[in-house]
Parts: sequence; C-alpha cells; structure tokens
Amino acid sequence: MNFRTVLGIFSISLLISCSSEHQTEKVKEETDSTKVETTVVKDEHSYANTNDVKTEHLHLALEIDFDNKVIHGRATHKINNISGVSKMIFDTHDLVIEDVFLDNGEHATFKLGEIDELLGQPLEVEIKPETKKVVIVYRTTPESEALQWLNPQQTAGKKLPYLFTQGEAVLTRSWIPCQDTPSNRITYSAEVTCPSNLMAVMSATNPTEKSTEGYFRFEMNNPIPSYLIALAVGDLQFASLGNRTGVYTEPSMIDKCVEEFEDVESMVEAAEELYGQYKWGRYDIIVLPPSFPFGGMENPKLTFATPTIIAGDKSLVSLIAHELAHSWSGNLVTNATWDDFWLNEGFTVYFENRIMEKIYGKERSDMLLMIEYQELLHENDDMINSGHGEDTHLKLNLKDRNPDDGMTAIAYTKGALFLKTLEEAVGRDKFDKFLNSYFDTYQFKTVTTEDFVNYAKNNLLKPNNIEFNIDEWVYGEGIPDNCVKIESDRFKICDEKAKFLADVKTADELLIDESIWTTQEWMRFIRQIPENTTIEKMKMLDDAFNLSDRGNAEIMSEWYIKSIKIGYKDINEPMEQFLIEVGRRKFLAPIYTELAKTSENLKLAKKIYKKARPNYHAISFNTIDEILGWSE
Ligand code: BES
Ligand code: ZN
Repeated sequence: MNFRTVLGIFSISLLISCSSEHQTEKVKEETDSTKVETTVVKDEHSYANTNDVKTEHLHLALEIDFDNKVIHGRATHKINNISGVSKMIFDTHDLVIEDVFLDNGEHATFKLGEIDELLGQPLEVEIKPETKKVVIVYRTTPESEALQWLNPQQTAGKKLPYLFTQGEAVLTRSWIPCQDTPSNRITYSAEVTCPSNLMAVMSATNPTEKSTEGYFRFEMNNPIPSYLIALAVGDLQFASLGNRTGVYTEPSMIDKCVEEFEDVESMVEAAEELYGQYKWGRYDIIVLPPSFPFGGMENPKLTFATPTIIAGDKSLVSLIAHELAHSWSGNLVTNATWDDFWLNEGFTVYFENRIMEKIYGKERSDMLLMIEYQELLHENDDMINSGHGEDTHLKLNLKDRNPDDGMTAIAYTKGALFLKTLEEAVGRDKFDKFLNSYFDTYQFKTVTTEDFVNYAKNNLLKPNNIEFNIDEWVYGEGIPDNCVKIESDRFKICDEKAKFLADVKTADELLIDESIWTTQEWMRFIRQIPENTTIEKMKMLDDAFNLSDRGNAEIMSEWYIKSIKIGYKDINEPMEQFLIEVGRRKFLAPIYTELAKTSENLKLAKKIYKKARPNYHAISFNTIDEILGWSE
C-alpha cells in the first residue's frame, strides 16, 4: 500500500523558494519509500493546519433525511498529531456543529471562527499531543453548497427524490467538517442510511443492489484528497459494462447508458497501455439527473456524469475518457493547491486526447482538440484584452479568489497544448516513458507546479539534451509561439460550407451528409456560420437538420448561441426547454451571456431564468445570477 504516513517522512527542512514572483515558505519533505521530494506549500483555500496535525482516516456515519433535506453526520477523524500541537483546525462551511468528542468519548472544547463567504468557518478543536481521534457530530443546512436535493419532478422517474454532492474545489467542507485541502490525502469509510427504496453510492466500493434496510457501507482504501469524497442517493440501478466497468443510473435510462458506454472497458485498457496500471479496482460511472452542474466529475471508482452526454451515438464519450484519465492525473497525482490546477486538468485533457486517438483515430482526436483550441484562443484574448494577462499563466495565484476562477481554457487547453508541444519536441516514445515514470514516482502524492517543472527539467530535458521554453509556458503570459499546430481537413470542409451558405438556395446544395458528419463537425460548422447570415437561411438550416431540437446538447447550445447573435428567434421555445431542463454550467453560462447583450434578450433571459433557477445547483445559479445581475 502507498500510504503517506509519518513513518515515511525522515526529513523535514525549511527552505525558501524563489521560482515564482511571490516568495513562498515551503516545507520540503522526503519519503523514504521512493526518495522523492515533494514540496508542501500553504494552501490559501483552507484553514487546516495539516503540517502540524492531519487526518489519516475518516469514518463517516451519515443519515440522509429527505423530508427535511438534511444530512445528520458523525465524522470520526483518525489523526496524526505530527508536531504535538494543542489545536486542530478543520474547514466547515454552512454546517451546524453539534458536538465534538476525542478518544474514549470525552468532550472536546471547540470553537467556530468568523465566517468567510468563500472559505467558510474554521473549526478549532482543542486536542492533546497524544490525541488519536476527533469525532465531530454535525448536520448540514439548506445553504450547504455541495449538496443538491432534487424533488421527484427533477429526476427521470419523477417519483422519488435524489441527492448528490459535488466537492471540488472547496465544497466538501459544506457537507463534511474536514481538512479540506488537496494537499492532504486520507482514506475513508462510511455508513449511510437512507429510505429503503433508494440506493446510495460513493467514490468508494459500491453496492449493486438496494438494501432492504436502506443501509450501505463503503470503503476507500487508497488515500485521496477531500475534494474527491462524493455521495449520490437515488432510485438507482446498476448494469455491468465489462469486467471491471459498470454504470449506475435511474431505471428508465439504464439501457441507453449501457449502449452509449459500450467502449468504456476498452478505454480503461487503452489508458493502462499508455500510462500504467489502473490503481482503483473498479471503474464505474453514475449518470445523474440533468441538473448536475458539470459535464463530469472524476470521483474515484465512480465518475459522476451529466446525462447530456447520452447523445445516442457515442459522440460525446470523450468526456468519459477525460474523467477516466483523471484516475492518473488528479486522483493518483494531485495538484497540491488550486494554483496548480493545470496539473490536474491540462494533463487530463492531454491524456483524454491520447485515449481518444488510440480508440477512435487521430482524425477524431484532432477535431476534438481543435474545438477546444478555438475556445482557448477566445478566452486567452479576452483575458489579455481586459487586463487580466496573469490569468493566462498556467501557474496561478488565486489567493483571495474563488478557486473556480481557475477553471478556464488556460488550465485545460493551454495545459494540454503545452504537453503536446513538449511531446513533439522530445518524441512520443520518450515522452510516454517520462509520463509513465512521473505517474509512478508521484503516485498518491500531491505535486506543485514547481515540482513538475523540476522533474521535467531533470528527467526529460537534461538527459535528452533538449532546449525548451518550459518556464515561458508555465509562468508566462498567453500562448507561446512554438505551440503545436492542430489541423483538420474535415474542419476545412465545414468552414467552406459555412462560407458557401450565402450562395445556396436550398440546404441540399450544401451537400452535408448527416450520416457521416460527427458532432464536432456540426459544432465547427455552426461556429463558422457568418454573423450576417439571414434569418431565412437560419430557418432553412433548422428545417433541414432540426438543429434547435437535435437532442445533442453540444450541437444545440452552439446553435442557440449563433441564433441569438443573428437574431433568429425560432429557437426560443426549444432553448427555453433546454435551459429549464439542463443545469450544466458550461452550456448555461455562454447562452445567458449571449442573451444578456441586448435589453430585449435580457428580458427574455430573466423570464426563462425565473422558471429555470429552482432547478439549478448552487454552482450554476451563482454564476448565472452574476451574468444576469439577478437578485431574488
Ligand atoms: N474536475 C473537473 C470538474 C471541476 C473542476 C469541478 C473544477 C469543480 C472545479 C472535471 O474533470 C471536468 O473537467 N469536467 C468537464 C468535462 C471535461 C470533458 C472538460 C466539465 O464538467 O465540463
Ligand atoms: Zn477534468
């Protein structure tokens, strides 16, 4: 086992790092098992004093009360008081702390600090040097942002309620009092009770059947960061996809999901061939109700996914490749702080693309990356033009900011393109060997950007005698000139057809063969439609290809945005339907942003939002509130 225990630490020394603009005090830590140095930096998004005392194992006893929309919890922290301190600090946010006990049930003295809107409230518990256990009895509140409680109408079955959690980045503290920092890894176990007609699943070993008592037990025996603790409770059914893969969803969705995910088992194999053994046992996916605010979340052993990827033609499964890839980049090797977020996401987009290439070929993986690249260029320009050039650095400084601010195309796509450019410079063989050894060396550890940069210099660039502008990529602004060029002949055809639109009289003349056009080609084509295209032409396309109501969320959202820009209004009804049903922020934010640009459309947006907002998760409505200037 790869527990990072105190026994493994034989030297702790202080040093000052000068590699980035602001100096950080670092604790350099060596573990004797691998002789690898990882730096432990201060996490600006947590109050926890993990360098002095840390949780090693967490046991959760949770009672899910759907009537009152409350979780009653008891969190038992098995701790390691490294420095023998007298105070342990936990993160909490919108929790009620009812009581705290230490070993043998003795009451502990505790106090909650001031409330910070972003970081919540530190919970200080008085402990002794020899304390081994801290037990926190608590309950969640309606404000607990990690939780979304769904009424039956918000589910596919419409009969039973549903609950799911979202921990990343700093929301776990709103449903579990814990040291909520990615820099500390813990194992966990849980006992969950819920109504017996529902099934509970977690980022852990999972049941495949409901239980007559509504009681479930879970284990996660690999050490993980707190943001990966996750729970979903609903009318769930399980179906197997392969030897070690399967899917959970509501009964009415299960067959569709099994078909859509036909290739998942081979994705796991492809990933292993690329970057080494899958270390988590099973790989399952839960397809959630449409209000899930993200496309996917890489909860270990159990990816959480939006139903908007169930397109009926496997065209959106790259999202599964992405969440699966996180089983290496992110879950095995974890960003030490949210400033290093690109280490999670940039690596994952790169890895996702390699999996897609391996299974579906280079033509498809290039199209996927090009779609992302186009978005990166826009975001990068916007940031630079609005005077926020520092947000285009891979290494961020998110002190006093919401870590979600780092969730941009920079971390994802600039990060991936950096690795792809590096791959091109050293050659694929060498690069893959290097990444294999990176994942191996840092498995079950947390890594800072500086750790990676040093590792790459010492293990990739120096040994191969290669000059590379690694610091410009990581600490510099914008997209360096040596960025790899991604091209797609199929996209060139899409571009031509979009340009040709002005000259055609009927949709037939465009010679679009729907049976072979992929989702990515539709997206590209729609994006390239000139903004001076007439309403009549838009209607012609809509009538011919049913774009407003095509059933594919990626295509529909591109189409709505272009239609709003052009002033084509026949989308209004299906778009309203879409906005009421779907809660995925990635789709909502650009549509509402486009609508907010004229006063007439803003009025429409607010009318729709009034109906849609109650369906959205806090993560989504917080963003949309801001876009629309909404106050209830
Ligand atoms: N880990 C992210 C989701 C996330 C990031 C949640 C930061 C909260 C804070 C997940 O792996 C992700 O990137 N999801 C993407 C899909 C992906 C294919 C780019 C999404 O949800 O759109
Ligand atoms: Zn991701």
